Amino acid sequence: MYASVFNPSNKRITIAVDGYSSCGKSTLAKALAKKLNYIFVDSGAMYRAVTLYFIENNIPISTLQSESDNGKLKGYLDNIKISFEKNQTNNSYEVCLNGRNVEKEIRLMNVSENVSLVSTIKSIRQKLVQLQQDLGKNKGVVMDGRDIGTVVFPNAELKLFMTADINERANRRFNELTHKGIKTTLEEVKENINQRDYDDTHRIESPLVQATDAILIDNTFYNEEQSLQVAMDKFLEVIKK
Ligand code: DC
Repeated sequence: MYASVFNPSNKRITIAVDGYSSCGKSTLAKALAKKLNYIFVDSGAMYRAVTLYFIENNIPISTLQSESDNGKLKGYLDNIKISFEKNQTNNSYEVCLNGRNVEKEIRLMNVSENVSLVSTIKSIRQKLVQLQQDLGKNKGVVMDGRDIGTVVFPNAELKLFMTADINERANRRFNELTHKGIKTTLEEVKENINQRDYDDTHRIESPLVQATDAILIDNTFYNEEQSLQVAMDKFLEVIKK
């Protein structure tokens, strides 16, 4: 008997997972990457790490646009090195800022409150998009963010766009943060998500928008296993083509 000619794992593709804040993008992207033995890249973590750099170095976020116009921002950006290191306990990749693992700090509320503004600046986006494209150049990557299917990998073979009910998102995020020992309130979390959705969809540079060829996943009533199943079904459809 001949072995099956069709072997999905032989064909490595690029998978873009975009969508609103706290819809379960990273959870799905991570699970997909694990299942397919692909690299997982959390592009939001990169914007968060850059935001942390400005906060820690007392560079006011509100001045970044004018610093960009007068050329000073380039100097700051030259001092920012973003990399990833593997957490051997759970096999996930964690973001490092100038060699220091900052996975926990970038989830704090002061970063969440400033990251949308940082992500509006063109030169910051250009630097991070370049890095993201380098990380995905050999395919076999699942990357989540806001502009992955539209700007970073417009030719990605599989594009997923996630949404979910705002109350469900706020509850999940609040539980996640509380679980990590980060003190906040449900109201604060909900307000932050609403604000980031607004900022992400209204900015001039690469606003959050569903790519015309992206598949919409409403994650409101799915658990992790169910959304993975939907994504895997789409993956298999793509790979069979
Ligand atoms: O995925 P996240 O919530 O950790 O992302 C944090 C912020 O970074 C989000 O509010 C918008 C920005 N972001 C972006 O502009 N483009 C991306 N590809 C990823 C994130």
